[in-house]
Amino acid sequence: MARNLLVILAICYIQLGLSCASECSILDQKAIKYGCKITLKNYCESWRMNVELHNIRDFDVVPEECVEYMGKYMTSTQYKVDSERTIDECRVYVSNSCAFKKDGADAWIFDVDDTLLSTVPYYMNHGFGGVKLNLTSMEEWMKKGKATALEHSLMFYNELKGQGVKIILVSSRREFLRSATVDNLVNAGFYGWKTLILRGAEDEKKEIGKFKADVREQLMSRGYHIWGILGNQWSSIQGPPTAQRTFKLPNPLYYVA
Ligand SMILES: *[C@@H]1O[C@H](CO)[C@@H](O)[C@H](O)[C@H]1NC(C)=O
Repeated sequence: MARNLLVILAICYIQLGLSCASECSILDQKAIKYGCKITLKNYCESWRMNVELHNIRDFDVVPEECVEYMGKYMTSTQYKVDSERTIDECRVYVSNSCAFKKDGADAWIFDVDDTLLSTVPYYMNHGFGGVKLNLTSMEEWMKKGKATALEHSLMFYNELKGQGVKIILVSSRREFLRSATVDNLVNAGFYGWKTLILRGAEDEKKEIGKFKADVREQLMSRGYHIWGILGNQWSSIQGPPTAQRTFKLPNPLYYVA
């Protein structure tokens, strides 16, 4: 008995030692601090969390050691559940706190990429956030119009439309992608929006956050009541001006200022 226990303990020790060695080698500094109790997963999860909290900003790429983790997360059930939760909270807000005016000017703003359409298929073949974005190749991919729908966003989009809320799409995609974007949206099941606002030549000089705030200002001056925004970047939801409530979907792959 005692001998068996020793063997088991020895095996456990070796396994712990091995996993620790492989993970700690990447995280030398932190491993020392936490007495080798921090795993790569701990490290990458806290990185992702702090992106969502908007503590980590302006990053060009996902840390190299977290690229694999990010790929797993973006294709995981967890990402789907996290996104579904965001949508559920939108629904709670709409049913409890939105007294729609029903004057034809109730509106909701959506981002396009990684809010209605997923760019995960692109990132899957382009280093999962670990390499700096190549806009040319991203736009070539967008032109093909093969992006898939985020299914929970699609459901919510249709629910709002059913309540007579005007759907306004505001995207940092450039104007020349309009027809590809329209085709892609329709093929993925999105139709009946009020307007699709893309970035024109003069908007390209502005930061995305400023472009989107200017769009909201124009919409409000035209009398729209913007009840909510669903986006995946802080630059899509931060004001001024902003909506009554804003909702952010997870996106640890890239940062748009
Ligand atoms: C960016 O993508 C384009 C189109 O795929 C390619 O021709 C170009 O070499 C890429 N640029 C870099 C810096 O990788």
